[in-house]
Amino acid sequence: MSLNIKPLLNPLEAPYELLLLADPSRRLVEEYIKRGDCFVAYSGDEPVGEFVLIRTHPQTVEIVNIAVKEHYQGQGIGQTLIARAIEEAKRMDARTLEIGTGNSSFMQLKLYQKCGFRIFAVDIDFFIRNYEAEIFEDGIQVKDMIRLRMDL
Ligand code: ACO
Repeated sequence: MSLNIKPLLNPLEAPYELLLLADPSRRLVEEYIKRGDCFVAYSGDEPVGEFVLIRTHPQTVEIVNIAVKEHYQGQGIGQTLIARAIEEAKRMDARTLEIGTGNSSFMQLKLYQKCGFRIFAVDIDFFIRNYEAEIFEDGIQVKDMIRLRMDL
């Protein structure tokens, strides 16, 4: 499938349907859109994926949100988005790219490690501190954030 990945120029056109797939908190997603750089992948005119980059520390950029439309998942678009995120982070002069996901997100952990990220920390109780409702995935409560990073 041919994908056209473009920076989001107008925050009012942010693809919330996709952004909320990766993060159920509208408040956090709105903050990411305000603070970060969002890139949207189009198949023709249809937005099928996105990622958001934020500078967190000097020379460190984080992918704070990444999603592919459900119907298109499992076809390699996620890997393509991460490859583009790596390019964009290098363009931002970052030396480290980070990403975090829930303790129960096994597919995501597989994808991130396949793309070259390594686990370096666990933010204990991150999802309990930052989300009002309890979140469950495959019968496991999402409590801790697994933090991964790669050198660029
Ligand atoms: N369905 C199938 N395979 C998946 C999935 C999935 N939902 N997620 C990850 N994988 C695995 C596959 O096994 C595949 O490995 P393989 O090549 O050995 O088969 C590998 O990851 C690559 O998969 P892609 O097809 O490139 O990934 P995809 O296009 O499905 O995108 C993503 C992955 C972004 C996680 C997507 O499934 C999605 O949007 N999920 C819902 C939202 C989400 O969880 N976002 C991440 C939250 S964390 C954060 O935003 C920082």
